[in-house]
Amino acid sequence: MGLCPFHSEKTPSFNVSPENGFFHCFGCGAGGDVITFIRRIENLDYIDAVKLLASRAGLEVPTDTASNGMGELRKRIYEANREAARFYHKMLYSYEGAKGLSYLRGRSLSEATIKHFGLGYSPPSRYALVDYLRSKGFKDSELVSANLAFMSRSGHAIDRFADRVMFPIIDVRGNVIAFGGRIMSDEKPKYLNTSDTPVFKKSSNLFALNFAKNVGEGMLILCEGYMDVIALHQAGFQNAVATLGTAITTEQAMIIKRYADEIAICYDADEAGQKATTRAIGILRPTGIKIRVVTVPSGKDPDEFIRSYGEQGTARFRKLLDVSGNDIRYQIEKLRKKHDTQIPEQRVTFLTECAKLLAKLDNSIELDVYAGELAEELAVTKNSIISQIEKYKKQSYRKARKEEMRNIMLTTSAAADRINPEKHRNLRAASAEEAIIALLINNPDLADTILSRIDPDKFITSFNRRIFTLLIDRINDSRPISLMDISGELSNEEIGSVASILNARPRENNPKQAANDYINILLDENDKMTPEKAVSASAEEIMEHMKKLKERKK
Ligand code: UTP
Ligand code: MN
Repeated sequence: MGLCPFHSEKTPSFNVSPENGFFHCFGCGAGGDVITFIRRIENLDYIDAVKLLASRAGLEVPTDTASNGMGELRKRIYEANREAARFYHKMLYSYEGAKGLSYLRGRSLSEATIKHFGLGYSPPSRYALVDYLRSKGFKDSELVSANLAFMSRSGHAIDRFADRVMFPIIDVRGNVIAFGGRIMSDEKPKYLNTSDTPVFKKSSNLFALNFAKNVGEGMLILCEGYMDVIALHQAGFQNAVATLGTAITTEQAMIIKRYADEIAICYDADEAGQKATTRAIGILRPTGIKIRVVTVPSGKDPDEFIRSYGEQGTARFRKLLDVSGNDIRYQIEKLRKKHDTQIPEQRVTFLTECAKLLAKLDNSIELDVYAGELAEELAVTKNSIISQIEKYKKQSYRKARKEEMRNIMLTTSAAADRINPEKHRNLRAASAEEAIIALLINNPDLADTILSRIDPDKFITSFNRRIFTLLIDRINDSRPISLMDISGELSNEEIGSVASILNARPRENNPKQAANDYINILLDENDKMTPEKAVSASAEEIMEHMKKLKERKK
């Protein structure tokens, strides 16, 4: 058991069974085998996940050209994106693109910076990129899938980006996965970004992480915008990254934690930026990363701040970093601004709010330090603050446990309902079916015993029937049936469901006896099936039931 890497939680609900070769999270319902795990954590498709694992195990993957449509499309999108980035960059130095280049220079970007980030310009004609990429052999459908073009009503592809300076977004493997394009006037939208595509999910990527990950300072700087990141890199802070036009997500927080021990949040000084800072702290805290908050003075964003100091920009920003406090100090300061601590009532509410805030700290030394500072400053005893904190801690612990349990119940039953919607109407049968499936997967040598007594027709819920049929078909073809082996034939959600079926049951001491018992239950449930009961079933099931009744009469 451990903390789930796919959602943030404080009590472990992620469980790995080495014996069966699968994982399952009771909290968010994620589950599957090692390939599913790699697919999700590395954001890879099936084939690439297999390749990664194979190379780690020193195995060779047979090159199979058939039946890999999605992998093929992803490859084409990467290629199209790379060509597009080259094209946009070249355009910057064309007659048409001169305005793009002067815009970037006007924002104080050096030639080296423009090259380093591969910045570019998308021409105003709506066909420039489409024509170019067609000449390179790309199909319109590929350009639309890459979100480099959209399909007009009359059915031809049109450039998505026109007359904008272009910021390529590159993943940690060096693939161009998306673009941001800034308009050079006051028109809206200011930035146009690639929508999610088969190779790009904006909630799980960070701008400039491809560079920042190599800096090795153990710290990342998190900004709001592309230009902030670029200005910081140019000023020597190559560990700056940004989210892609959205508030930070849990996925991004977990990626940040993978590459750094510390994060410096450096959002805009305006009110929106400060709100976003509080939200980001809430998302980042559960990962356990050290957080500091950089306050950029006087309504500026980091890019404007650095630029306004010219040559001195680097030194000035370094200073901001040095004086930045951690997230707790930042939040205490925010509370302090809201209260006049000279007035006793307000002093009480200020301290109470601080106690609530400090109750979120796990580290008791840290907690003691802040409580001590506040006590001294406001002339109260440290013990009174600490005992208030303890009260809040107990409260929030109880609340969190309750909430987590509730979520577990909700996701487990919601997922189960989605995957096997007939289960709740046929609980006894479905449980027996699941037990039989688990027994078969865990004891393939029982196949003959089980098959001699029962066939898929006897399975009442169609999801379980499908799984059982799949197992039987594989057994008849002498193919293995571990979860790992069958996962290629199931969706992620379905694998999760089978994983939890296996997970919910301990291995039986006498599997043969157990199998017979569960088969008896299922047969018994079959006998109980009456037409009235079948009314709530699907049309298909009713037909099947009628057929069975007829056969019985014969
Ligand atoms: P800002 O509006 O703060 O812009 O948006 P900025 O980063 O300071 O950009 P410049 O300096 O005016 O060029 C912050 C980030 O929000 C996203 C972009 O990622 C931007 O960098 N954004 C903003 C969009 O995606 N679309 C928009 O229309 C505006
Ligand atoms: Mn800006």
